[in-house]
Amino acid sequence: MDSSFQAILDSAEKAFSNAPDFAALENAKAAFLGKTGQVTDLLKGMAQLSPEDKKTQGQAVNLLKSAVEEALNLRREALADAAMQAKLSVQAIDISKAGRKRGGGGLHPAMRTLERIETIFHSAGFDLADGPEIETDFYNFTALNTPENHPARSMHDTFYVEGGHLLRTHTSPMQVRYMQTHASPIRVIAPGRVYRVDSDATHSPMFHQVEGLWIDEGISFADLKAVFIDFLKQFFETDDLIIRFRPSFFPFTEPSAEIDMAFTTGPNKGKWLEIAGSGQVHPNVLRHVGLDPEKYTGFAFGVGPDRLTMLRYGIHDLRLFYENDMRFLQQFS
Ligand code: FA5
Ligand code: MG
Repeated sequence: MDSSFQAILDSAEKAFSNAPDFAALENAKAAFLGKTGQVTDLLKGMAQLSPEDKKTQGQAVNLLKSAVEEALNLRREALADAAMQAKLSVQAIDISKAGRKRGGGGLHPAMRTLERIETIFHSAGFDLADGPEIETDFYNFTALNTPENHPARSMHDTFYVEGGHLLRTHTSPMQVRYMQTHASPIRVIAPGRVYRVDSDATHSPMFHQVEGLWIDEGISFADLKAVFIDFLKQFFETDDLIIRFRPSFFPFTEPSAEIDMAFTTGPNKGKWLEIAGSGQVHPNVLRHVGLDPEKYTGFAFGVGPDRLTMLRYGIHDLRLFYENDMRFLQQFS
C-alpha cells in the first residue's frame, strides 16, 4: 500500500481503537468513511483521473476502503464483546449458593390414615365399597332396625337436607346397600365421610368412619375381636395395645360393644378414647336384605379413623385436622 494510504489506515486504526464506545466509534468512522471523510474524498477524486490512472488508483483506494472498514468492524466486535462480558458479570449466577426450597406437599393425615386402613384390610381379604353421603332415612335408620320414634335416633344429631334426605350420620347404611347387591359370604370395608351436629375436642361435625362387615355361616363375636385386634396391631405397629371392649347398644347389632383405646403419647397420655362401635349383626337387619339369620351370621364395626390418627400421633384435639393450619399439617408431610 502506498505510504500516504498506509498513513490514513494507521490513523483510522488508531482513532477506532481509541473510541471507548459505539457513539465515539461512529464519530471516528465519519472522519474516514463519512460524506466528507478522507477515504470518501479520495474516491470522489477518481472522477478527475484518466482512465488509465483510474484503474490503478481505483484499485488502491478500494483496498484502503476495505482495510478501513475491516478495522471498523474489528473494533465494533470488540466493543460488543466487552458489553456482553460486562452484562454477564453483573448477572452472574453463583452456582455454589444453596437452592431455594420448594414445599413438596403431602397427604392430609386423615387421608393417610384412611389409606393405611384400606391397605391393612385389603391384605386381610376385605373388599372396598363406596356409598352416598346424602342418604335416605330408610338406609340411615329404618333398614338398620331403627324405625321412626326409636329412641336411638336421638343419639345421632342429624343434618337434614331438602327432599326428606339427610347427611348420613354413620357409614352403617353401607352394610345394607352392600348386602342388597352382593351375595354372601361378604367381607367388605366402606370408608367415607359422615356428618353430625357435634363439635368439641373429640367430635367434629364432619368426620370419617370406616364400616367393616363380615357375613358368612358361623361368624361370631370372637371373629370380630380377632379381626379388629389384629387390625389395630398392624395399624399401631405394636402388640402392646391398651384397649377394651365395653358393652354398648346399637339397634342394628346384638350383642354390641364399643371399643376404647388409651393414649400412649401426647398431653392425653393414659386417657381412654372411644375408637369404634361394633357387634354381631342384628337378625332384623339380615332379614331386611333377605338373608336367613338362621343360616348367616356376622359382625360389623364402625371405626373412627380420625380418632386413630389422634392416638397414633398423640393429638389432643380433633379440630386441628380441619383448621388447615400449615404449621400443623406440615408435621405430617
Ligand atoms: C356408630 O356410628 C355405629 N354406626 C358404629 C357401628 C357400626 C356399630 C357397625 C355397630 C356396628 P358411634 O356413634 O359410636 O357408632 O360412632 C362410631 C365411631 O365414630 C366412634 O367410636 C368414633 O370413633 C367415631 N365418631 C363418632 N362421632 C364422631 C365425631 N363427631 N367426630 C369424630 N369421630 C366420631
Ligand atoms: Mg359411640
